[in-house]
Amino acid sequence: MNKKALKLSVPLIAIAAVAYLIFSPSKYVGYSPDQPIPFNHKIHAGDNKIDCRYCHTGVETSAHATVPNTSTCMNCHSLVAKNSPDIKFLSESYTNKKPIEWVKIHDLPDHVQFNHSRHISRGVDCSQCHGNVAEMVKVKQVASLNMGYCINCHRENNAPTDCSTCHR
Ligand code: HEC
Ligand code: HEC
Ligand code: HEC
Ligand code: HEC
Ligand code: HEC
Repeated sequence: MNKKALKLSVPLIAIAAVAYLIFSPSKYVGYSPDQPIPFNHKIHAGDNKIDCRYCHTGVETSAHATVPNTSTCMNCHSLVAKNSPDIKFLSESYTNKKPIEWVKIHDLPDHVQFNHSRHISRGVDCSQCHGNVAEMVKVKQVASLNMGYCINCHRENNAPTDCSTCHR
């Protein structure tokens, strides 16, 4: 690269970096990857009214909501819809002790500290951050989960907003 091109590219990179910081936060709104099994929240949490906490067992007591093991699915699917190809795949992975590799959807950067139980115990509903999952055939991220999003809600609810709340 010659000197002139270098002089030009430095400010361009700086602009790109700033633009990235400003615009990157909402890049995951609408993110809805395909899963190894097309798990349908509407059938389970909607039509059959299975409580979120039946599967996301950590959500009230720990930082992580957790995604259920196949054994939780088998509580019902050792009988329910046994002949469906997706349930056959599920049973086989259970028998072979091969966990289903669910693709993570919501994922904060490592430098951010988030804790589910702190929110749930203050009465913040799942839908405030995840939308109406019980009506979703396929889970989709609906909130940006960027810093402004977190801080706005903290201000409105008199929750702490100093940097160390969310950054170690
Ligand atoms: C029968 C079990 C079951 C029930 C009940 C259930 N879920 Fe899930 N949930 C899953 C599984 C399996 C996944 C991973 C596959 C997927 O993303 O669809 C998941 C994924 C999610 C995700 C995305 C996780 C990520 O990777 O970011 C959210 C958010 C979520 N569930 C919220 C809820 C809420 C809110 C309820 C109640 C309204 C609920 N779930 C009820 C099994 C369940
Ligand atoms: C509390 C009972 C229960 C649990 C736990 C449960 N399911 Fe289901 N599931 C159902 C019912 C009921 C249906 C609807 C069956 C029907 O319509 O014939 C269903 C339907 C399905 C279907 C659609 C089957 C088809 O092809 O028609 C899939 C796939 C599925 N469940 C996957 C899962 C997975 C994966 C888990 C664990 C993360 C799970 N289920 C946990 C009760 C359950
Ligand atoms: C205040 C916002 C907020 C509320 C309320 C909330 N979540 Fe989450 N959820 C998040 C964030 C942020 C992540 C990503 C966490 C990470 O990457 O560390 C997440 C991740 C998840 C995941 C993926 C697994 C995990 O633990 O990272 C599941 C499943 C989930 N949430 C389910 C639920 C359920 C069920 C409820 C209600 C009982 C709920 N969430 C309430 C913000 C929220
Ligand atoms: C819907 C409103 C809402 C949103 C959105 C929200 N929070 Fe909170 N958060 C709260 C409330 C209310 C509390 C206070 C809980 C308490 O007083 O124990 C809290 C508490 C916390 C705490 C514990 C603080 C302490 O006392 O040590 C952390 C960490 C946290 N939130 C991180 C986040 C992050 C990171 C995000 C964004 C991904 C976020 N929150 C989004 C409402 C929210
Ligand atoms: C309520 C939670 C919360 C508080 C309080 C908070 N942050 Fe953040 N911060 C976040 C989240 C969430 C992200 C990740 C944003 C993303 O992924 O787009 C972030 C990202 C950042 C980043 C990195 C930007 C990037 O590209 O990832 C910096 C730097 C930062 N915060 C500094 C601060 C400083 C300085 C303070 C105090 C004035 C502060 N934060 C207070 C939640 C918070």
